[in-house]
Formats: sequence, C-alpha cells, structure tokens
Amino acid sequence: MTTRTRILTGITTTGTPHLGNYAGAIRPAIVASRDSNADSFYFLADYHALIKCDDPLRIQRSRLEIAATWLAGGLDVDRVTFYRQSDIPEIPELTWLLTCVAAKGLLNRAHAYKASVDKNVETGEDPDAGITMGLYSYPVLMAADILMFNAHKVPVGRDQIQHVEMARDIGQRFNHLFGQGKEFFTMPEALIEESVATLPGLDGRKMSKSYDNTIPLFSSAKELKDAISRIVTDSRAPGEAKDPDNSHLFTLFQAFATPAQSDEFRSELLQGLGWGEAKNRLFQLLDNELGESRERYHQLIERPADLEDILQHGAKKARAVATPFLNELREAVGLRSFVAQTQVAATTKKKAAKAARFVSFREDDGSFRFRLLAADGEQLLLSRNFADGKTAGQVTKQLQSGQPLDVRKEDLSFSVWLEGECVADSPAFADSAARDAAVEALRIALTPIQE
Ligand code: TRP
Repeated sequence: MTTRTRILTGITTTGTPHLGNYAGAIRPAIVASRDSNADSFYFLADYHALIKCDDPLRIQRSRLEIAATWLAGGLDVDRVTFYRQSDIPEIPELTWLLTCVAAKGLLNRAHAYKASVDKNVETGEDPDAGITMGLYSYPVLMAADILMFNAHKVPVGRDQIQHVEMARDIGQRFNHLFGQGKEFFTMPEALIEESVATLPGLDGRKMSKSYDNTIPLFSSAKELKDAISRIVTDSRAPGEAKDPDNSHLFTLFQAFATPAQSDEFRSELLQGLGWGEAKNRLFQLLDNELGESRERYHQLIERPADLEDILQHGAKKARAVATPFLNELREAVGLRSFVAQTQVAATTKKKAAKAARFVSFREDDGSFRFRLLAADGEQLLLSRNFADGKTAGQVTKQLQSGQPLDVRKEDLSFSVWLEGECVADSPAFADSAARDAAVEALRIALTPIQE
C-alpha cells in the first residue's frame, strides 16, 4: 500500500517552453518529484492541445520539444510516471463515463467557455459561433486525467483552479451514483505554488507567448543573448544608480541566482553598473545555469526514437494503473461481461448469508430444536429433536462450517443430513420449483461469510 502523495499535472502541447514556463512550472515540478513522499504523474496533454490548435505539425513539434525539455531539465523517469495523454486509451474512455454524469449546467459555467460566449455576444455573433464541443467538454477530459490516477494534488496555474474543482464535483457524483458506499475517486486538490516566481518578460509584463515578450529556454546561446539585449530598461546612463526593485532585469536575475549572487548584483546596480553590462551578467548567469541542460535538450531532440521509447515506457507504467481501474469502473456502471456475473452473485450471497438466522427453542418434552429462517423470514428448516442444547448448537455450527451439504429431496420437501443422520427437514413446498429454490436459498444462507 502506498501512502505517498500522488501529484499529477498536464502540460498542453501547443508551444515551445520558454524561460517563464521553466521557472514557473517545469523546474518546481521536477524538484517536487524528487521528494520521497511524492508519487508524480506528469504528462503531455496532447488531447487538450487539439482543442486549441488544428496545426498537426505544431502539435507534433511541441510534443517533442516539451518532452525533451522536461527530460533535459532533470526529470527522472524511473521515479515519476511521464507519458503522453494520447497513449492512454483509458482516458477518453473514462471521459465518456464522466460525461454521462457531468451536469451540463456545471460546464456552462466554465470560464474558458463563458469567455468565448461573451466575446461572441459582444460582437453580435451567435453565442456559440466557433465554439467546439472540445472546448465545451475540456473540463471533463481534464477531470478524467486527474481522476484516472486518483491524484491528491494537482499543481496548476490560477486559471485552472476551476477545472480541478469541476473534477471534484464530477468525481463525487460518480462515486455517489455507482460507488455503493465505495469511493472510487479520490478528491483532488489544486496546488498553487505561491513561492514560485511568475517571471516578467522582456517588456516587464508577465512572460507569455501571447505578449510576444518571452526569453527562449533551450535555443542557442546567441538567441538567448539577443533576447536579453531586448529587455526594456530605464534610460539611466552608466554611472547613475539603478533601482533594482523596479527593474525586471533584476527580477529575472534573482529567479536563477543564489542569494549571495543577487546581493552582489544589487549593490553593483546601486553603484551605477551600466545596463549593457548588467545584461551581460544576466546572460552569463543564465548561460551557466542552462548550458548543460541545453546540450542535453539538443541531444534528445536529435534522437526522437529514444524519446519515443521513454514515453512508451511511461505509458506502460500509467496503463498498469489505468487498465484495471477502468475495468472496475466499467463493471460499476454495468458494462459487464455476460459470462462473469460473479460479482453480482457474490453480493447477493453475502446479503442472504448475513440475514439468514437460526432460532432455537425448547419443546414441552424438554428437547432442544431450532429453525433456520431465510432473510425474508421464510422457514427453510426445522430441526429434529435433540436431547440437550449443546448437541443442537453443534449441529447449527456444523451446518455453517462450509462443508458440502447433504441435502436429500423427498417429494415436495427436503431434509438435511449430517454423518448419515437426518438433522432437519424443510416444510412442504407448493411445487418442485419452489422446493428447489428453497434448497438454493439454503445453500446460500449456509455459505460462510467471507469479509
Ligand atoms: N488544462 C491544463 C492547462 O492548460 C493542462 C492540463 C490538462 C492539466 N489536463 C490536466 C493540468 C490535468 C493538470 C491536471 O494548463
């Protein structure tokens, strides 16, 4: 049994990771996965990517680059389960089971869908213009990602908190409808890393592809240098004191430096270090920090077959969890084999066995007897007379011991024998079918309960 915290997160494969993604998500996730209490599931959310992007080349390229980035960044695939969402057929299958319990009203409230509707309404379009079912069902697919592996913690950006809450909602509903007291799904929690830096981009706004202000992560040293040269600074000349706390160049430096390095840089800026030289320092720092990983990254990109192997291996690990779990869920909703109805029979049996009961009594002549009553109160057996309570007790015990029952049918009734002696008789039944049903009920009632 594992008591480790299961941490799961997905990365949508629509772009090339930049420095902001690295510092804000990739690096902290890799660090978290090294904790011995963590059981990490990290995956490429390439089905989600299809919702946002219809350019196959871009999807393909992004999957490769993101996989290589995580591995180059030091992700240990022996420790974590690292896979592509689209290699796990159980995920779309679970998505459907969840779709069938997810309230449409819940999905109507999803921020991303609502924003698209609002935009359409503003521009006088049909509210659903250009909105696919993929976008609408996005949160259900994400719920399947999370619930499939019973994740406890889901590290995400703030914009994704609502989706994790929806996963809880949908999972709970499934548990309630099909769990019969069993909680199939663990309730996940969004994990927002407050301490993790949101890196500023070249212009000082949050680094983001949509602002076109990113610093590349593992492209060449020259491209890194070029990007850094475009960082916007104020117009203070060399020799003039700079204000580190209002400089996003300094913020970027801090995100990769030791406290001692940051302190030194700060005092240099206060003493009038020129911006050109300051950019040089930042370049040196990043080149040092990322140079080795950059080399690994390019090696990986050049060997896509190795990456493919690594991800196939990850898929195998993930499916070792997903396949049996999905079978259980299919069973729960009624998608069962016609042949193996054992589970149903077993529950019925348990209930019957629990409810059947022996009732002992004493005859006027002082002898001891008992009746065996089925769950519904129907009398299955009436015992013969025993001289003392102890013998009667032993007989009831032996009947429940699990040894094969010696039942002998006689016309419309039957009797039960122990060691060649008749110990109890059934009442007479209306017909032979009723008699046979009672024999079956007796066998079930006397099967030892296995908890
Ligand atoms: N929707 C997430 C994002 O855009 C990516 C994602 C897909 C995800 N499935 C997930 C994140 C499951 C966490 C858990 O960032």
